[in-house]
Amino acid sequence: MTFTGAATVAGVAGWPITHSRSPRIHNYWLRKYHIDGVYVPFAIDPDGAREAFRAIPSLGLAGMNVTVPHKETAYKAMDEVDRWAQRLKAVNTIVVRDGVLYGANTDAYGFLESLREAQPSWRADIGPAVVLGAGGAARAIVAALQDEGATDIFIANRTVARAKALQDELGDPVRSIAWDERAEALDGAALIVNTTTLGMEGQPPLDLMLDALPPDAVVYDIVYVPLETPLLAAARARGNPAVDGLGMLLHQARPGFCDWFGTDPEVGQVLRDHVLEAL
Ligand code: ATR
Repeated sequence: MTFTGAATVAGVAGWPITHSRSPRIHNYWLRKYHIDGVYVPFAIDPDGAREAFRAIPSLGLAGMNVTVPHKETAYKAMDEVDRWAQRLKAVNTIVVRDGVLYGANTDAYGFLESLREAQPSWRADIGPAVVLGAGGAARAIVAALQDEGATDIFIANRTVARAKALQDELGDPVRSIAWDERAEALDGAALIVNTTTLGMEGQPPLDLMLDALPPDAVVYDIVYVPLETPLLAAARARGNPAVDGLGMLLHQARPGFCDWFGTDPEVGQVLRDHVLEAL
């Protein structure tokens, strides 16, 4: 990779940051499009996170991605935010515009783009969606489905209070259900999304009977290590369309790259393979 003194500089802020796949994604695109730019990891201690974000314009950076645990701090540190950041009270993409800090949240966009890429015929209003989990990822996904016009969205979470809180915050058609009701809720569902850490490498598999799930329902797992989780394998074995979590990771990265470096980058198989090599 070659970059000059005139290079556009962006990166990703997190704590810890060593696990982030974002440098691999963005630097792949920088090479592919022959852009004079670089994308670096920033390990930012939570104590100094606000100051670090406020300093982005004076450091001459084009912007930053923001990951755990800084998304809420970043939201509060912005001068302006987009409607998704406003709605989710979290920022994952910072862009400097005329010296002003502009915060966006591209998680919902990344989810919808990846779902449409994998399942072009999918529409939010074709039937109920069941979302497992109630953390930050679930929040973005439920809001995205709601925005797209989903008719029913059921949230099942081990800690039911978190699912109820999401229901109260987002309103119709979001309904929390008990964790024990997750298998029954699949009856008639058109989409199921796992946003929990279950099925991730080192974690127990998601324990979920798919018997009630209609054969054409889409099964989406946001976990991408491993790419083929036990949930996706079980879905494929019974003929359901299955979507892995790598697409969301790649598509949520596009808007930031486009703003900082001026090119809307492509998410293709070569990039998928390049990221998979390092997983
Ligand atoms: P993120 O913000 O990335 O979505 P998170 O807030 O840590 O991550 O959420 C992880 C999700 O996985 C939560 O819904 C969590 O359930 P709780 O809210 O009850 O903690 C879920 N999860 C993690 N381990 C689980 C387990 N062993 N059984 C069921 N759910 C689990």
